[in-house]
This record gives sequence, C-alpha cells and structure tokens, in this order.
Amino acid sequence: MNRITVSLKMAGIVVALTVAMVSSLAAKDFRLGLITPPPHIWTKAAAAFGAELKKESGGVHSVTIFPSRQLGNEAQMLQQLQTGALDMAFLTVAEISNRDADFGAFYAPYLVKDIASAARLLRSDAAKNMLKQLPKNVGVVGLGYGSAGLRQIVARDHITDIGSLSGKKIRITPFEPIKDFYTLLGTAPTPMPLPAVYDALANGQVDAIDMDLELIWKLKYTEHTKTLILSNHAMFPMVGLVSARVWAGMSKDDRTLISKLMARHVDSTIDKYVSGEAMFLEEVKKTGITIKAVGPEFFGDKIKAWNDIWSKKTPALEILRTEAAK
Ligand code: BEZ
Repeated sequence: MNRITVSLKMAGIVVALTVAMVSSLAAKDFRLGLITPPPHIWTKAAAAFGAELKKESGGVHSVTIFPSRQLGNEAQMLQQLQTGALDMAFLTVAEISNRDADFGAFYAPYLVKDIASAARLLRSDAAKNMLKQLPKNVGVVGLGYGSAGLRQIVARDHITDIGSLSGKKIRITPFEPIKDFYTLLGTAPTPMPLPAVYDALANGQVDAIDMDLELIWKLKYTEHTKTLILSNHAMFPMVGLVSARVWAGMSKDDRTLISKLMARHVDSTIDKYVSGEAMFLEEVKKTGITIKAVGPEFFGDKIKAWNDIWSKKTPALEILRTEAAK
C-alpha cells in the first residue's frame, strides 16, 4: 500500500466515524432563554455554548438564544422548562431558590469573603452535589454553575450608616433570601426585574438598588445615584439548565456532549468576574460617585438574624458554610 492509499483509507475511516457519531444524535435546534441582554457575560457564554455545540455535533445541533426576557421572566422560563416548552436556560440561582430553599443558602450574607472564594465554592463538590436534587425538586437538570459579580448597594442619597437606609425602598431581584435580608435591615425591599431598574432609579420609584459592580457601571446606574456601598455582601450564582423532559428524550451521546459543553461555558462566566471585578470598580470610581467600603459590621446584628432564619429553612446553609470556610 503506498502513502496515498493509506491516507485515503485513513480519511475514509475518519469520515465513517464522524457519520456514525453524528447519526447517533437526533438533529435539533435547542431554544435557550435568559434574562440578560446580548452584551452581558452570561448571554455571550450562551452564544459560545451554542457555537461549540454546533461545531462538536458536526452541525447536527444548534442553539437559538432568547436574551433579555424575550420568553418571559425567570419564573415563566422555569415553568416552560418544566413542561418542555423551553429546552434550556441560564437562570439565576435566585429563581431556583424560590422552588428549592436549599439554593437560598448561596445568598447568606458574607458566606464568602471575595469573588475568588465564591468561585471556589461554586466549583466545590458540596455545591455540585446540590444540582443532583434539581430533576426531582424542580423538574430541570442542572449542568453547572456560573456567576455574576458580588452584590453591592447603590443609593440615590448620601448614605453614612445603615440607619440612612431605614424605610427606604430598595430594588431587589425577586427571591426570598434577599427579601429577608432587606426586611431585617428595616428597609422596604421592592422586587423588580433588571430592565425596569434604570427608570425606577431615575424617577425615584426606588431609593436604592441591590446590584453588582459590572451592571452598576455598564447600565449607568451611577447617573442617578450618589453613594455606592461597596459591601460585597452576597454572591450571585447562575445555573445552566436543561428541561428534564427534554433531557429524558435525548440520546446518551447528546447528554454527554451537552453536559460537557454547557458546564464549561457557564463556568467560564465565573472567571470573567474573578478577573473583572477590580476593573468594574475602577470604572465606577471614574464616575465620581461616593464610595463607602464596608464589611459585615455595617449591617450590625442583622446578619446573625438572617442566619438564624435560614439555618432553620435549610441544612444546606451549614454545608456551604463549612465548605466556604475550608
Ligand atoms: C439582577 O437582577 O440584579 C441580575 C440578574 C442577572 C444578572 C445580574 C444581575
């Protein structure tokens, strides 16, 4: 056999293997929903996941991304995942915590000391093990965690101490752990989706917002605020999900491929915040807003009060706390 014959035979084998692999997959265009706008790190990760799935499946699979709540809010998208009307989503763990209180433990104030510690916790076995209960408890398959930045408070007025926030309306993402936190602080937590926040700050519908540094800078919330309380008081994880119904109909090969790729791309968002938080803060500083860096002492005895409530709601709090302390 000469060299050309060997090369042709090898090429033939590669083609045959590729065809065999691809034909074992049922072609599908998956629909993936999320609430973040197209330029957001999560949306870009979703697009990168779709592109890689298309490439690795030999063009058999594709993913159409629906950003900016095009398919509804997170509660509605979760319902669609449960019925199988939606295939995939990248959702805040906040929304999951509304269905499974264990996930509320991620929002314990000062569970982690910085974004690098948040990354370690999300990549721990303790956190990953919690994903295993999602099919039974929520009707979705969790393939991995992502993250946004740590949470801060930006206020329309000058804030000197926690008393200055008393009775003030504070925008929160709609979920119980954060609602409990701001209620304990004596404020009026006001659930509000991301797209409504800028106008609500501008027209005084809310006095302050709970938000991360990236969006405080990129969505220009500093245009209507005087103080950033740089508190880093909570992490804000995301989770990559597939509808359990859709999952049940997938081949083993599809599951393996999608698990690998979705986990990788949601995880990539964690690195973006680990490397980006310092830069986001520098950009916020450039706006001239007053920045008050605080630690847990700023919130007085309310952190203990939150822990007292949530340690009764879920054993996961102690598990994550032990893991975070490692
Ligand atoms: C928020 O509602 O504050 C939020 C949602 C998704 C990513 C980042 C922030």
